[in-house]
Amino acid sequence: MILLGIETSCDETSVALLEANSKTQLLTKLLAIETASSLTTHAKTGGVIPEIAAREQLSYMLPVLSTCLKKGLNFDYGKTVPQIDAICVTYGPGLIGSLLVGIETARVLSYLWNKPLIPVNHLYGHIYANWLPQSENTHQRTIIQFPALALVVSGGHTDLVLMQSHSRITVLGGTRDDAAGEAFDKIGRLLGLSYPAGAEIEERAKKGNPKYIHFPRPLIGEKTYDFSFSGLKTAVLRHVQATPELTEQLINDLCASTQAAIIDVLVRKTLTAAQEYTVKSILLGGGVAANQTLVDSLTLNAKRLTLNAEIFVPQKSYCTDNAAMIAAAGFFRREEISWQTLSPNPELYFD
Ligand code: KG4
Ligand code: ZN
Repeated sequence: MILLGIETSCDETSVALLEANSKTQLLTKLLAIETASSLTTHAKTGGVIPEIAAREQLSYMLPVLSTCLKKGLNFDYGKTVPQIDAICVTYGPGLIGSLLVGIETARVLSYLWNKPLIPVNHLYGHIYANWLPQSENTHQRTIIQFPALALVVSGGHTDLVLMQSHSRITVLGGTRDDAAGEAFDKIGRLLGLSYPAGAEIEERAKKGNPKYIHFPRPLIGEKTYDFSFSGLKTAVLRHVQATPELTEQLINDLCASTQAAIIDVLVRKTLTAAQEYTVKSILLGGGVAANQTLVDSLTLNAKRLTLNAEIFVPQKSYCTDNAAMIAAAGFFRREEISWQTLSPNPELYFD
């Protein structure tokens, strides 16, 4: 079967065509993916302005959709119905104006083409990015074994989720305040870096000293799988305020010390949960999973603990928001809905 995925929860407008085999339950091929981003506009304002993000979604949607259909299925305007079996679309969480663009597009296509519509929770999308084929022409990688532990680390979320199967899911913990990506972005702003700051902090951290300051590692040793990163932001702010001049080297040292604090907490909580629930797989997902230093630290510490779990990380371009992961989640968690009843849910969490 072929799934059309649509993702517009924030500042990426993404459409993908994913081929899957219902009998073997494998994702066989990513036929095409097109993604446009309004990130450069938001970099100028230091963060996403929802109204602008929504307007950009509107201007990108049809060009992205038509290019993807052309590339993946040679489908042109004027032809009747493309060879697809279902339409999967993000319905939350996210910015209401942005979500509406994807949802309205999906509803209209479902109505016009008479195709099933599958609403997808964006958070599951980040988890199911791990099931995607490694590249456009390769097969889904090793079959992921349950129980699996997923760490979703994005701009809006830091969640630890236990998956006994595709349908039995328990949230072990989440962030009590700022998400990990949000912490990277807010601290980056304090240091004068442009939005989003995660990737630049990682690059600068390579030239800095992670032990320059031992920033707080909130909740690290406590018996909870919740996270809290707002205290870290305050600690960095105090340090910046007390510093007469932020030299390039000092910024690099602060980046390295900040990153070390965030990674320590993420790794410790994830591995503690992996041990407690004796999971067979650990899945990372979300923009912060693109951080190689995080992946290396997780891998190294899992080895130290002789943990018997395989670690999965999506290809970098599928860590950040994209429509392929939405199609993948739609395939494994297929719950059809009529185009008449679909509406956005900006506050959606795991169900
Ligand atoms: O998943 P995503 O694209 O959007 C949300 O659903 O939020 O994640 C974006 C977040 C941003 O906060 C960005 O700073 C962070 O992912 N990010 C990184 C890296 N690349 C992106 N954080 C740390 N290291 C990176 N290399
Ligand atoms: Zn996301």
